[in-house]
Amino acid sequence: MNKKRTVKTLQKMKKHGEKITALTAYDSLFAGYLEESEIDVILVGDSVGMVYAGQETTIPVTIEEIIYHTKAVKRSVKNALLVADMPFMSYQVNPEETLKNAGRILKESGAESIKMEGGENISNSVSRCVKAGIPVMGHLGLTPQSIHQFGSYKVQGKSKDASEKLIKDALILQKAGCYAIVLEKIPAMLAKEITEKLDIPTIGIGAGKYTDGQILVTYDMLGMFEKFKPKFARRYSELATEIKRSITKYVNDVRDNSFPSKDESY
Ligand code: KIV
Repeated sequence: MNKKRTVKTLQKMKKHGEKITALTAYDSLFAGYLEESEIDVILVGDSVGMVYAGQETTIPVTIEEIIYHTKAVKRSVKNALLVADMPFMSYQVNPEETLKNAGRILKESGAESIKMEGGENISNSVSRCVKAGIPVMGHLGLTPQSIHQFGSYKVQGKSKDASEKLIKDALILQKAGCYAIVLEKIPAMLAKEITEKLDIPTIGIGAGKYTDGQILVTYDMLGMFEKFKPKFARRYSELATEIKRSITKYVNDVRDNSFPSKDESY
C-alpha cells in the first residue's frame, strides 16, 4: 500500500476489507508516536476540550484552539490522514459560514479533512464543503456536541425509530459527499447494518466490531484520562498510575535531597 493515506485510501481499504486504524492527537509528541505506528488516520478531536483543557464538555472548544492543536500535530504527521474537528457552532449556522470556517481550518492548520457531527441537519453544509474540495468525515450516534439535548453520554440508536433515523442520516451524509462516517456509541448490530448499507467506510467508537475501522481517544486507551472510563475504551496501559508514581518519587527525592546525585551534577 502507498504509505500516504488519503480519503481514497480509506475507501479502497473498505473495498478490500482492510480495517482502518484511527486515534486522536492534540500535540506533536503524541502525533509522532502515532505516525511511527503507521496509523491510518489521526484526528484532532474536539475531545481536546475535555481531555486536554479540562472542560466539562466539548462545547467551549474554539476554531482557534483546533487550528493551534492541528498545527502542532501536523508537524509530526507524514503519512496518516490528518482530520480536524469542526467545533460547536462553526458549522451549524449555514453552509456559507461552514465553508468559510472549514476553509480556514484547512488553510491555517494543514488538516486534510474536517469532521462534523450530525445527519440530515448538516447535509447542506457537508455538500457545500465537498463541492469546494474539502473532504468531510461525518459523525453520527452519540455526538458529544449535542450533550445538552441527549442529557447524558448514553448509547444511541436503541429504539426502532432512533435506529431508522441513524440509517437514514448515514445514507444522507453519503449522498451529501462524506467520504467516511464515525459511528459513536451505538449497538454493534446497528453499526453493522449501516456499514453494510454504505459504500463509504464507517469508523466505530463504541460501535462494536463490524465497522470498517476503529477510533479511540488516545488518552483513554493509554489509561491517562481518569475522569471518564467508557467501557468501549480498552485500556492498553495505565499511564496515569505510572505518571503519578514517577512524579511522587521526584517530589520525595527533591525533599529528601537524594536528587540530584553527583552523577546528575556538573
Ligand atoms: O473529539 C473526538 O475525539 C472524537 C472522537 C471520539 C471520534 O470525535
